[in-house]
Amino acid sequence: MDEFSYAQPNRVRIADLELNLRIDFSTKQISGTAAYDLDWIDQAATELVLDTRDLTINKVEAEVADGTWTPLQFALAPADKILGSKLTIQTPERPAKLRVTYTTSPQASGLQWLEASMTGGKRQPFMFSQSQQIHARSWVPLQDTPQVRFTHSAQVRAPADVMVLMSADNDPKKLRDGDYRFKMPQKIPSYLLAIAAGDLVFQPISARSGVWAEPGMAKKAAEEFADTERMIVTAEQLYGPYRWDRYDILVLPPSFPYGGMENPRLTFATPTVVVGDKSLVSLIAHELAHSWSGNLVTFATPKDGWLNEGFTSYVEGRLIEALYGAERAAQETVLGRNELAQEFQRIDPKLQVLSLKPGAVADPDGASSSTVYVKGAWFLQFLEQRFGRDHFDAFLRGYFDHYAFQSIPTTEFLRYTKANLLDKFPGKAIEKELEQWVYEPGIPDNAPQVRSRALTEVDTARAAWLDSGRLPSPRQTRRWNTQQWVHFIEGLPKTLKLEQLNRLDNAYKFTGTDNSEIAQRWYPLTVRSNYRQARPAIAEFLQRVGRRKLIMPVYEALVDSRDGLAFAKDIFAVAQPGYHPITTGSVQALIAQAQPAQKAQ
Ligand code: BES
Ligand code: ZN
Repeated sequence: MDEFSYAQPNRVRIADLELNLRIDFSTKQISGTAAYDLDWIDQAATELVLDTRDLTINKVEAEVADGTWTPLQFALAPADKILGSKLTIQTPERPAKLRVTYTTSPQASGLQWLEASMTGGKRQPFMFSQSQQIHARSWVPLQDTPQVRFTHSAQVRAPADVMVLMSADNDPKKLRDGDYRFKMPQKIPSYLLAIAAGDLVFQPISARSGVWAEPGMAKKAAEEFADTERMIVTAEQLYGPYRWDRYDILVLPPSFPYGGMENPRLTFATPTVVVGDKSLVSLIAHELAHSWSGNLVTFATPKDGWLNEGFTSYVEGRLIEALYGAERAAQETVLGRNELAQEFQRIDPKLQVLSLKPGAVADPDGASSSTVYVKGAWFLQFLEQRFGRDHFDAFLRGYFDHYAFQSIPTTEFLRYTKANLLDKFPGKAIEKELEQWVYEPGIPDNAPQVRSRALTEVDTARAAWLDSGRLPSPRQTRRWNTQQWVHFIEGLPKTLKLEQLNRLDNAYKFTGTDNSEIAQRWYPLTVRSNYRQARPAIAEFLQRVGRRKLIMPVYEALVDSRDGLAFAKDIFAVAQPGYHPITTGSVQALIAQAQPAQKAQ
């Protein structure tokens, strides 16, 4: 059961989706038709139930004879705040082909519309989708559950000077003409359906890989992501052929609410990782890794999120190790595990398990956490340690082949692992240990540990400064990478004296940094320490960047501080028109929650 969808996949399944859409920037709407090939499983079924959110449904028709369509009765239920509106279509004849004519809302939760003035080049407007977790239903009526996979094709019309891309066969040489056709022969679940439109140009990385971005960003991004082909080759050596043909990266405007999204053939990425030194390219390793873990073998419901994100974080680590060495991989592992330890201090034990119980989270957008990513990866690192790399690599490759293009729950993973790992190599691990990782909170005591030499050096330097007031010398810090700076700041006390913050700023120019991984950690520290000088830079940061993970810690520190709530509200009022609906929702919820507490003081 997928509690986040109204669909009834054991009665009927969408096998193919054919979209015919028009993108209207002036009204911020997509309109057109979605036509489906249906596989009726239950021969007594009389209804087709689809997921929708904020859609206007104009008509529903079934194909009766070749090319002849007849209207069907339908009803759109009142909207549930999280799930949207159940669309029930009367289908007494169980048609093989059905189509829905519809229009999206300008507020569609899965789309962001940017005026030309809000883009880098300021020449064309921009629109992009973010369907995961359950936002595909806000731009296409469909069975919005990962348990249904379908092929898709599309014809999309847009203003002639705007380029359109999809989670499909984008042609690097395609000229802009306002009429775009797409075909996607591989079956994907709804959360991977994607579309973007804007002033987008292509810059190749290799024969099968490249960057799409606004003209001012394309070359820079292609240089930052120059190692992508090596990442693909490495992943193929480990886990078998890349099955999706091209692998391109679309660099979005800074309002993209996530770091990356593994849309098939076309990863969506935040521009905040283009920092000039390749230090944040593990994001690409991560999204590419999803081509095996997630897109090929998919979780059955968002409650099994670790099957996508934990596996992917594990594979990401393997790619980083192969390309940049074990020390760099260790740095990322240590930083992730430190964040996990912080999270465990904060969150309910029932959210510290890999396989969530039904009802554990109300909104699946909140199901993602360090537990899912870092504990999930740690579990696989534990298995790798117990069974040895050779056996474990072969096992994972077999797993990806065995379940290719399927969706599975955690119990299926456990069954497969028992049969193909535990029973095959007896004496290495027992079922109880696996169950502890999956069903118990926290981390088992015998979990493998990792150390990073470069981060230990940072610990020593930080301790020396806090002890004696002597800052690490530029000769030393010149060689520090993003991960080391992040670690330096994360290990500082919760608050510092103004004079200490001043010295750090004078030496290292944290305030105003264009490295948002540093900004994300430095600004909350300045807020907690009431270091007012940073406020203009904070305001600039929160207005420029909309990536949720980067800006939420800053807003959280602000609403917790003595007079930061008013400042946070002021900035949010200015920044909000540029934020994605997902980011807007998170900030709004935080501010609403903060208010009563402030009043009570
Ligand atoms: N699939 C996720 C993004 C996601 C998860 C969107 C859950 C909606 C709900 C993507 O692969 C991801 O994990 N992105 C990370 C980047 C990464 C390097 C850990 C992000 O956006 O921070
Ligand atoms: Zn991911």
